Amino acid sequence: MKKSKFIPNFFVKQIRNRSINFAENNTHNRNNMKVLVIGAGGREHAICAALGKSPKVTEIYCAPGNAGIARIAHCVAIGDTEVDELLRFAQTHSVDLTVVGPEAALAAGIADLFTQHGLRIFGASKHATRIESSKEFAKNLMMKYDIPTADYAVFADYTEAMAYVERHGTPIVIKYDGLAAGKGVVVAMTHAEAEAALHDMLMVHKFGSDRVIIEEFIQGQEFSFMCFVNGTDVYPMALAQDHKRAFEGDLGPNTGGMGAYSPLPFITAEDRDFALNRIMKPTANALVAEGCSFCGVLYGGLMKTAKGIKVIEFNARFGDPETEVVLPRLTSDIFDVFNDVLDRRTPCIEWDSRAAIGFVLASKGYPESYRKGFEIKHLDTLKGVEVFHMGTKYDGDRLLTNGGRVLFVTGLAVTLAEARENVLTEIAKIDCDNLFYRSDIGYQAI
Ligand code: AMP
Ligand code: GLY
Repeated sequence: MKKSKFIPNFFVKQIRNRSINFAENNTHNRNNMKVLVIGAGGREHAICAALGKSPKVTEIYCAPGNAGIARIAHCVAIGDTEVDELLRFAQTHSVDLTVVGPEAALAAGIADLFTQHGLRIFGASKHATRIESSKEFAKNLMMKYDIPTADYAVFADYTEAMAYVERHGTPIVIKYDGLAAGKGVVVAMTHAEAEAALHDMLMVHKFGSDRVIIEEFIQGQEFSFMCFVNGTDVYPMALAQDHKRAFEGDLGPNTGGMGAYSPLPFITAEDRDFALNRIMKPTANALVAEGCSFCGVLYGGLMKTAKGIKVIEFNARFGDPETEVVLPRLTSDIFDVFNDVLDRRTPCIEWDSRAAIGFVLASKGYPESYRKGFEIKHLDTLKGVEVFHMGTKYDGDRLLTNGGRVLFVTGLAVTLAEARENVLTEIAKIDCDNLFYRSDIGYQAI
């Protein structure tokens, strides 16, 4: 038994008073913190893993989570858009901080609801989430505030849209105006492809809405710039690059992302400063000026073109799979970062100088149709890498595939090439009949 020390009464009072002040004003300095993470993918697994490194965090809940997340957090069977249920859960479990992964939860107004009820949440309001959920809103904002992006026009009418395509020719880019899980964009190389995309979006309403953006086709290196943002405060994360196409050599259909790496040798310090000062900060300021101040992760999907850096898209959340390579490089306490940004203090954000690279293991057939329920074996034999689950579930103690993107395997090493070799060696140990991956992740940098 521990020896208890005698503490004079007035000391106890002082200590108590101090802890009351901490509780009211400064989540930053408290321990035994409970955090709720919303989402069920690799991104949320990486957020939970980063939070798990904080000595201040003692309980992590994840709603709904997945089989991998269940190893490091308590998974809660509430869907990411069941915001009333999530609120009740956070209240009854005295959650100190909620961190939101998916756009659907933000678009469902989770941040607004939690804030109204006095709960701390790191995620954008429904209004501010339009930067992602409405491409028209995002494009109009960029136009109004002179933020560099590809030229565009908005259409609801198929005939007018086709006339625009005839005038501008191909390649041309057609984007559905709403959330489509990364699948509402068609880079039409031919007239026939443009016609088919417009037919899908404006005639048969494949995704639901009735508006499209048609954009100038631009070319260059794409990169992802995520920043922690609160109003006009913008704190950049390490840069990453995603690989959107399904197959090696950047071929095949667009996906939610097939792999990522960080840092990016082809983006210079000047490029980064330009992206921060001419794109990310002005966008945060523009959102404040428009009355929809942003709090959360603002993600710039940017392209370095011959005519400078331009915005391809904004997201109102951590990128997936970029988060799975960026957060493993964060050496600072992410719980502190979230709280500092929420309380408008300057956070300490430091990065591991090593490179990180990660590969998505996807179900054969993804991003089109695919089957689930294939057993994944030998995952526990992987060494020196981090495995994030994207779409898995347990059937008893059998781990099964349960989504299009199933696993994400990240490795860190001094060079990107070394990290890549390590991860590929480890991935080869995974035994599953229905997975494929792109082995060329990072090819632009290696
Ligand atoms: P988005 O969902 O808007 O990020 O678009 C998905 C992918 O389509 C991007 O990562 C780009 O590879 C491509 N893309 C989008 N817009 C353009 C554009 N204006 N020009 C060329 N490629 C584009
Ligand atoms: N990796 C792209 C996205 O998160 O939308």
